[in-house]
Amino acid sequence: MSSTSPSAPGVRQADFQFRCIACGELSGSARQDFRCQGCGDLLEITYPGWKQAKPDPDELKSTWRNRKLSRSPIDLSGVWRFRDLLPALEDDQQAITLREGNTPLYELPQCARIVGVPRLFAKHQGMNPTGSFKDTGMTVAATFARRAGFRWAACASTGNTSASMAAYAARGGMRSLVLVPEGKISWSKLSQALDYGAVTCQLRTDFDGCLRLLQQLVLRAPVYQLNSINPFRLEGQKTLALELLEQLGWEPPDHIIVPGGNLGNSSAIGKALLEMRELGLIPRLPKLSVIQAEGANALVRTLREGAGKRLISVSADTRATAIRIGNPASWKKAAHVLEVTSGACEQVTEVELAQAKAEIGAEGIGCEPASAVTLAGLKKLVKQGFVKAAETVVLVLTGNLLKDPDFTIDFHRGDLFKGTRDEGAAPSLEALRHPPIVLDATLDAVIRTLEQAGES
Ligand code: F0G
Repeated sequence: MSSTSPSAPGVRQADFQFRCIACGELSGSARQDFRCQGCGDLLEITYPGWKQAKPDPDELKSTWRNRKLSRSPIDLSGVWRFRDLLPALEDDQQAITLREGNTPLYELPQCARIVGVPRLFAKHQGMNPTGSFKDTGMTVAATFARRAGFRWAACASTGNTSASMAAYAARGGMRSLVLVPEGKISWSKLSQALDYGAVTCQLRTDFDGCLRLLQQLVLRAPVYQLNSINPFRLEGQKTLALELLEQLGWEPPDHIIVPGGNLGNSSAIGKALLEMRELGLIPRLPKLSVIQAEGANALVRTLREGAGKRLISVSADTRATAIRIGNPASWKKAAHVLEVTSGACEQVTEVELAQAKAEIGAEGIGCEPASAVTLAGLKKLVKQGFVKAAETVVLVLTGNLLKDPDFTIDFHRGDLFKGTRDEGAAPSLEALRHPPIVLDATLDAVIRTLEQAGES
C-alpha cells in the first residue's frame, strides 16, 4: 500500500472564485456573511480553470480509484479523495479530517416492495463520523476557516450542524460557538456539541431566529460562519454525489431524493450533478427531488404559490426537528437545481414520515426522522406517476437513528401523537410498533413473551 497521495496527471486542484448566484459578480474573496457585496444574494464557488483546461473524466475516475489504496489522511477522507473538484489547498496536511464520507450505499428490499420500485437504494450519510451528512461539508469549510486564520467558528443549527462544527473545530484547534433554538433540538445532538467543547447558547427563538442573529454577529465579531450559507460547506457536500455515482459505476440513477430544510444539501448535490455532466463524468442528469415536512414546507409553497421566484416563509413546526426551518437560506439555489434536473418537490405529514422511519428501521438500517421524509415522499411520487417502477431511486438518509432517540421511543411506545391532531391516525401505525416490554425476571415470563411474539 502506498502512503503517498496520488494526483491525476495534468489535473491541478481547482483554483476557485466566488460568484453571486443572482447578479453573477465574480470575486476572489468573500465577506464574512458570504453574501454578494453588490446585491446581497448568496455566493457559490466556481472553477474558472475548467473553461481553459477541462479535467479528463477518465483520469479523474482512475485517480479517485487509486487514492483508495493510499494511507495518507487526505486520501482516507471520502471527501478530499475527490479534491480535484474542490477548492485547492497548498498542502495536503492542511485538511482537517475525521475520515468523513466513505458512506455505504444500501439496497432497501423491503421498502422497495412497499413502494413498488425494485431498484431502491439508500445513501446513508448518517454513517459519517458525527452521524450526519454535515461532516462532508464541514471538513472543507473548517479547513478554510483555519487557513484564513480564524480562531473561532460559529453556526446556527437544528443540531447536526452544531455537532459537526464543534467536532471539526476541535480537531482543527479552533474554538466554536453554537446557537440553537432552546428546547427544539434533540439532546443527542446537543450532547455532541457539549462534548466537543463548543460554547453552546440555547436561544429563546427558532432556528430562523438563530440564523438571523448569526448573520449579524459575523459582521461584528471575528468568528467564521459555518452554516450552509458558507459555500465551502456545499463544495464538501458535493462529494456525496461523486461518491454515489462512483458506487453505481458512474451509471446515473433516475432519481435522487433528499430531505429539504435550509436547502444547502439539495443545492450541493445539484451542483455536483451539473458539474459532473459538464466534465463528462456522467452522460445524463438524475432527477433531484426535495421532500419537506408539511409543517416546514417553505420550498413546496415557494414553488407552488410563488412560481419559484419569491420565497414564501412559513412558521415551521415538525417533530423532525432537523428540518424545522421556515425561512430556508438556500431556497434559490435549490429551486434552480430542481428546475435544471426536472426534479419534484413534495411534502409529507408527520404520520407519513413516522411510518416511513419505522419501515426503514425494519430494514436494520435506521435513520433520523428528517431522513425518513425521503421514503414517505417517494410513495407520493410513485402514486403521481413521477417515479416509475422500472426506475432506479436513491434516497439520501441524512442522519443516524441515534441522533433522535426520543422520537423513536415515543413512536414505539405509542406516545408520538398523543394529544396532537394526529392522534386519530396513529392506530394505522400499530403494526410497526415494537414497544419495550417490562416483565418479572422469570424464565416463564420470557418464554411466554417469545411465544406471543412468534404468533404475531
Ligand atoms: N436532514 C438532517 C438530518 C439535517 O440535520 C438537516 C439540516 C437536513 C436534513 C436538511 O438539510 O438544511 O441542507 O436542507 N440540518 C441543519 C442543522 C439545518 O442545523 O443541523 P438542508
